[in-house]
Amino acid sequence: MGWVRAAALADLPAEGAVLGVEAAGRRVALARVDGQVYAFADNCSHRDFPLSVGEVDAASCTVTCEWHGAAFDLRTGEPTCPPAIRPIPVYAVRVDAGEVWVDLS
Ligand code: FES
Repeated sequence: MGWVRAAALADLPAEGAVLGVEAAGRRVALARVDGQVYAFADNCSHRDFPLSVGEVDAASCTVTCEWHGAAFDLRTGEPTCPPAIRPIPVYAVRVDAGEVWVDLS
């Protein structure tokens, strides 16, 4: 599928919050930590709850699922806190002329 425009950089919320978008028919979550934009699947690998309503911890660079508290590393998608045991997909991000692009391939 390759690179897909996901959002305008200006639409990203402040640090600590997550924006859920649909990019090429896929649910993608975007978060900003220390000025860096991260993109990841908007589905918790535990029970498929949207991670876009989760909370980002900048210190650990993780997102925590609101339903049962599983956490995932935004850089790798690996779970860092149960009950999730499977990673979530993470996507490469490029910011170009104020637009956020994600690589869904
Ligand atoms: S659905 Fe996310 S922790 Fe259960």
